[in-house]
Parts: sequence; structure tokens; C-alpha cells
Amino acid sequence: MDDRELARRAIEASRRAYAPYSRFTVGAALLARSGEVVEGCNVENASYGLTICAERVAASAAVARGLREFVAIAVATPTQGTPCGACRQFLAEFGSELRVVLTDLEGRMDVTDLRALLPRGFRL
Ligand code: THU
Repeated sequence: MDDRELARRAIEASRRAYAPYSRFTVGAALLARSGEVVEGCNVENASYGLTICAERVAASAAVARGLREFVAIAVATPTQGTPCGACRQFLAEFGSELRVVLTDLEGRMDVTDLRALLPRGFRL
């Protein structure tokens, strides 16, 4: 699974976003060490603060499938945006050696990693 294909899966997932309030659709595709890919999309709520980001939906779905080791995540947004702070911390729970592929909805990509996005993240 290369970065371009993972980005394509994130873009596909963004089409399933439930974002009637912001209209900002986000998709995520998380690549596990096993080779499995788990997707997520943002799920908004009329009580705005209950909204869940695509990255946390993907990570939670992966954990529920029994996956906890990840090598990369692709995140697709209209602006090639980076994961929010809460999602960085949530992903770091499973290791900060994670490649992060950022893409817009047309497939323009940039690649970074979680260590660069969350230096000195909180750990117990
Ligand atoms: N959003 C994500 O899904 N991931 C992020 O990392 C940042 C923001 C969603 C939440 C909300 O539904 C919309 O984007 C606008 O903030």
C-alpha cells in the first residue's frame, strides 16, 4: 500500500463524511502493520462539541478490529489540512512513529510524520 493509494482511500472515505454543519468533509485511512487499512470520516452533531474527527473515527474502528500497530495515516480535507491537536494526541497513544500523508480532495499530497506534528506529546 503506497502513500498515493492510501491517500485515495482517505479521499473516498471523505465522501462518506457526515458534515451538515461545517460542510468540511474529512476522510482518513489508517494503515496497520498487518497491511489492513481502516477508514474513518468526520461525524458531526447538532450539539457541535460532540463532533468526532475522521482520524479518531479511523483509530477507534481499528482498535475495535484488534489493530493497534500503525505505520501510516492519510488524511483528506478540502484544504490539505493537518490533523487537529486532539487527533495528534489520540494517534500518539499508539506510537509516534507514524507517517502522515496529507492530501486535498484532488489528490495533491504532502508527507510528514507524527513526531514532527506533535513534539513532546503527553505520555504517562
Ligand atoms: N475535522 C476532522 O475530521 N479532523 C481534523 O483533524 C480537523 C477537523 C472535522 C471536524 C469538523 O467536522 C470539521 O472538520 C470542521 O472542523
